[in-house]
Amino acid sequence: LKLLPQIQHGGKVPLPEQIATHFERAIEARLLRSGDRLPTIRAVASRCRVTRSAVQKAYQRLAARGLVESTVGRGTTVKGQAAATSGVTLHRGVFAGRAEATFHHAQSMAQIAQLPPGTRLVVSFARLAPGEDLFPVRAFSASLERVLREHGGQLLDYGESGGQPRLRALLAQRNAQARETDGEILVTNGAQQGLDLVLRAFTEPGDSVAVAVPTYHHLFGLLKLHGLQPVVVAHGAGSPRAGFDAGEWERALALPGVRLLYVMPTFHNPTGNTLSAAERAQLMEIVQRTEVPVLEDEFERELRFAGEPLPSLRSLDRRGLTVTVASFSKGLFPGVRIGWLQGASDVIQRIAAMKRFCDLESSPLLQVALADFIEGGQLDRHLEAVRAELKARHEAARAALRRAMPEGTTWTEPDGGYVFWVELPAPLEADVVAAAAARAGVLVTPGRLFDPLPKSQRGLRLSLSSSSVAQIGAGIDVLGACARELLRSGRSTTQPLFL
Ligand SMILES: Cc1ncc(COP(=O)(O)O)c(C=O)c1O
Repeated sequence: LKLLPQIQHGGKVPLPEQIATHFERAIEARLLRSGDRLPTIRAVASRCRVTRSAVQKAYQRLAARGLVESTVGRGTTVKGQAAATSGVTLHRGVFAGRAEATFHHAQSMAQIAQLPPGTRLVVSFARLAPGEDLFPVRAFSASLERVLREHGGQLLDYGESGGQPRLRALLAQRNAQARETDGEILVTNGAQQGLDLVLRAFTEPGDSVAVAVPTYHHLFGLLKLHGLQPVVVAHGAGSPRAGFDAGEWERALALPGVRLLYVMPTFHNPTGNTLSAAERAQLMEIVQRTEVPVLEDEFERELRFAGEPLPSLRSLDRRGLTVTVASFSKGLFPGVRIGWLQGASDVIQRIAAMKRFCDLESSPLLQVALADFIEGGQLDRHLEAVRAELKARHEAARAALRRAMPEGTTWTEPDGGYVFWVELPAPLEADVVAAAAARAGVLVTPGRLFDPLPKSQRGLRLSLSSSSVAQIGAGIDVLGACARELLRSGRSTTQPLFL
């Protein structure tokens, strides 16, 4: 359904032509490939509010152009395109449906927020990973050398499958300082593996996971991989800026097949929103009436530069069914691939058993080097510097947005983390503005990367993780100039190709 066309009702182009052109472009862009099924005529008609005969005519045109074929029982499928670029004829049937779906999803995602060939990058607001210039390379390399000298071969052997006790004890201690005492810890390969394992623990293929969209885009890939459906929870007042809508969560939880809630309570990716203490309590009150577990993604909690820390959802769950996932990727660096899960011991033990069969364990050497780095006070010193830098970057961004963006633009102002959300005034479309900025060397991420539903999008995610204060001002000036120019020239909207 994500490939439904956006129809311009009452436009100059006849409806069958609009529909045919949409699918033709999707086939050209290889978003639809040989063997893929087009949505049913009935689905297109009802979701796009057009007659079935208009869709039928469009499909007949595509068939006449040799792009699709209709077979009784199989519907309309794409034909005439080589199944593989390598020259080897792939037999699609050998791949599991989930592998194919994940592959296509990855390919279509890769096209979003790209610099056009030959364009020089001026600033990237698209990348969400701390810049190399912030990495404490020397201090970490000293830790690595020290632990190797002290423990030698022991760290090059297999270690403890649940994580090295030295690191787990430190993580427990740090969480206790943040008054997050309960729960056992399992070290994972980044938060991403934590998400994967929690999905494995609580869902079966065909189940649904409730998520507030827009949300972390790599969650959608994981859902595809596990054969899961997202149940979309809308934000209050229809805008991601508005944040939390208790009624929407209640509605989602009442749906059959919802087996898990995915929530990012702090510095949400991509909006930067944080749930207030009252909203957290309200959400957990609703969840408490069900047996649906909660996956709480706290990937950036340590990056707060203003305001007070808030209670975790896990601490508010009297059922013991919330698992928190966290990581060193954003506060420190992602290359060690170390994150962790925290939750009730019977939950963590089950997840630990699965992790053991997936990858045996995470690297003992890197875990112990990280423990040494933390014990020496290096992590806290580093986090302090990162928070101060982040505060300055957000201030620079806000000043530049006020100065550069067209009237009617709004944005979130988070108290921490790298990302915030910009909403453009109508008729500007996020895709069009992002494409214009990319041509000028400035990368921003259009909101559709974070939302599986086909609709017009005005939202952009900006990440401040890899640009300096000066670059931020310059980049937002370019973005603002592109938006203003599009408004002036009247080229502010197009018909999105897909999603
Ligand atoms: C919301 C969210 N969760 C999890 C992750 C995965 O992080 P890690 O590098 O720890 O696997 C990311 C990475 O960007 C993220 O944005």
